[in-house]
Parts: sequence; C-alpha cells; structure tokens
Amino acid sequence: MNACIRAVVRTACGLGMTVIGVRRGYTGLCNGEFIPMDGRSVSNIIQQGGSILVSSRCAEFFSKEGRARAIAAMKESDIEGLVAIGGDGTFRGALALMAECDVRIVGCPGTIDNDLFGTDNTIGYDTAVNTALEAIDRIRDTASAMERLFIIEVMGRHAGFIALHVAIAGGAEGVLLPETASDTQAFYRRFEQGLKVGKRTYIVVVAEGDETGGAQKVADSLKSLYGIQSWVTVLGHIQRGGSPTANDRLLASKLGAAAALALQDGRTGVMVGESHGDVCYTPFADTVNQRKPLDSFELKLADILP
Ligand code: F6P
Repeated sequence: MNACIRAVVRTACGLGMTVIGVRRGYTGLCNGEFIPMDGRSVSNIIQQGGSILVSSRCAEFFSKEGRARAIAAMKESDIEGLVAIGGDGTFRGALALMAECDVRIVGCPGTIDNDLFGTDNTIGYDTAVNTALEAIDRIRDTASAMERLFIIEVMGRHAGFIALHVAIAGGAEGVLLPETASDTQAFYRRFEQGLKVGKRTYIVVVAEGDETGGAQKVADSLKSLYGIQSWVTVLGHIQRGGSPTANDRLLASKLGAAAALALQDGRTGVMVGESHGDVCYTPFADTVNQRKPLDSFELKLADILP
C-alpha cells in the first residue's frame, strides 16, 4: 500500500493537484482525519510493508449517517476526488458514497487475496505468495527430514489464489480451495499410493476459507477417518506484512500513478487494474459483482504435478 500511496501522491502533485491523505481509511473519512501531503511526505516508504496512512475496517460506513459525516468532512476540506485503495469492501463503500455525493472516486486493487475481477494481480498478492512460499520451503525441510505430513493453512477467506499458487510453486502434494469441492478421500487415496512407492513426505496447502474449515479440521478428519497423523501450521498474518517484492512495488507504482491520472482525466467509479501488462479500468459495479475465476490450467497442474 505504501508504494501505491507514494505513486498517487507524487503523480497527483506533479499534475498540480493539492493532495490530502486520509488516515484510517473510511473511519478517518467519517472523522475528517486528513493530513496535507506532498512529494516529501512519501519519501523512503516504497520498501515498507503496511500503510503510513493506517487502514481500518469501518462498520460506520455501512450506514447512511456514517457516509453523511464523510461527505460533510470532504466538503469542508474541498475534496473533489478520492483514490480508494482496497478490496471488495472498499469498492462497495465507494459505490455507496458515489450514490450520495459528487466526489469522483477511482480505486486501486489492494488485497493479498488477488480476488478482484478486473485486474490480473492485486497489490500485495505477490508479496504474500512469496512469504508463504518461503515458509512452506522451510517447513518442507522438517517434513522431509522427519518423514511427516504437514497441513499448512494460508490466507484466503473466500479465494484460493494464494493457496493454489503456493501449492504449485512449493510442490505441494495436495491443495484445498474454497472454489472447488474438497475431497479428503481423494487425498487419502493419493497418500496410500504414495506410501506404496516409498513416498514419506507430504505437504498439503489449505486456504483458510475452504469448506473443510481449515487446516486443523483437515488434520482432525484425516486422523479420525483414516488414522493418519499430521502436523498443522497456520501461517496467518505473516502473509500480510513485510517488505514488498519488486513485482508488487512495480504494480503499486503503476496503478497508483494511473489512478491519479484517471482522476485528472475526469474518470470516476472505476478500479484501475492491470491486464496483460496494460492498465485497464473496470467499473466498481463489475468489480464487486463478478467473480475472478482460478485458472483452469493451474488447477490441473496442482493435480498432475505432485
Ligand atoms: O481480505 C483479505 C484477508 O487477507 C483475508 O484473506 C483474511 O482472512 C483477512 O484479510 C484477515 O483480515 P483481518 O486481519 O481483518 O482478520
């Protein structure tokens, strides 16, 4: 997010706009937590994880009263345009706000889940995948040294992009995803076949939103149904932090700048995204209502390569 904030601020300043940072996302918008920003306020942040502006999950923004406070605060500070960085919830909030005021809003896709329709990749996703992959590689050392089965849970409340990609890149023996029906019996058969040919080390990746209920539940059912012992690791929030990868910094720089330019061009109600390397624009309504599918070839890979 910092690389994106930097790109928005510097591009907008270069275009002659007055730039104000909103602290704490929609919470700060409701409370008028605004800070003046210029090119210097975003120095030395491109390599930092998190957000210098601080983020939040804002229940108040679901209500008309909450949004009315935000609209009044923006009016008071002469705010004409907004760049909203976030995911599905952020753009739903933007749509609600746009229905009630004239402020122009352009979105940047910021979520580690990569589950936004209208962009090949979201800001933060590549860093999360690489962080999870590094952890999985380390766990594999114990898995192979001790001949163990590890069940590793990665983030993705509704989406399996992180799980699928780390499973392929980490050579996992199984992956359980919210988008597909998970079959522990099929995994058991694979496990049995593996044992017959002398395979003793297994890594199974589970997306937290998989319908099985997560890694611990999978481990419990493998134990109770088949007597298979496994070790569980939940990677959790380490996937949401740390210095961003080069790909993430590039994407954030590109999309942050594109968002400021889009506002300058009079665009509103769209998320900027990247499609095959080019910047593209998707209406918020499409972003929030359409589901980005997992790649069918990658799904096959996760099945045939182990
Ligand atoms: O929505 C993105 C996401 O990273 C999910 O994958 C994860 O479940 C969630 O955020 C965690 O959010 P929080 O820290 O608010 O619980």
